[in-house]
Amino acid sequence: MTNQPLDIGNALASFDDYWSPKVVARLNDYEVKLAKFMGEFIWHTHDDTDELFLVVAGNLVIQLRTGDVQLTSGQLYVVPRGVEHCPIADDEVSAILIEPSGVINTGDVVSELTGSSAELRQAPTVDGDEL
Ligand code: NI
Repeated sequence: MTNQPLDIGNALASFDDYWSPKVVARLNDYEVKLAKFMGEFIWHTHDDTDELFLVVAGNLVIQLRTGDVQLTSGQLYVVPRGVEHCPIADDEVSAILIEPSGVINTGDVVSELTGSSAELRQAPTVDGDEL
């Protein structure tokens, strides 16, 4: 256990690859992940789990077969299990994802974007930072 809070901004600044969520915290059987999005992902479905998107910066569109969900900074949306979706970001988006451990980012579809979530390596504290 640590007594250090996670700084979302610092954690986001420590990586720049898109569509590659990083695990930053765990609670019960869930993982809290940070991700950056740019461009269009792929249509996919998670048959066994809901998926929470909380936008931290930028504008994210979650395309559903029934219409688009428009999210901006400070807004969240939960894609229900079994609902096909495809996120798209015209400009860079930073977001928090919450979902059960081990969820595959592309759901039922295998593509070059498929990957398991890596643990984020915490950047060392910068000298002079107040703790
Ligand atoms: Ni998904």
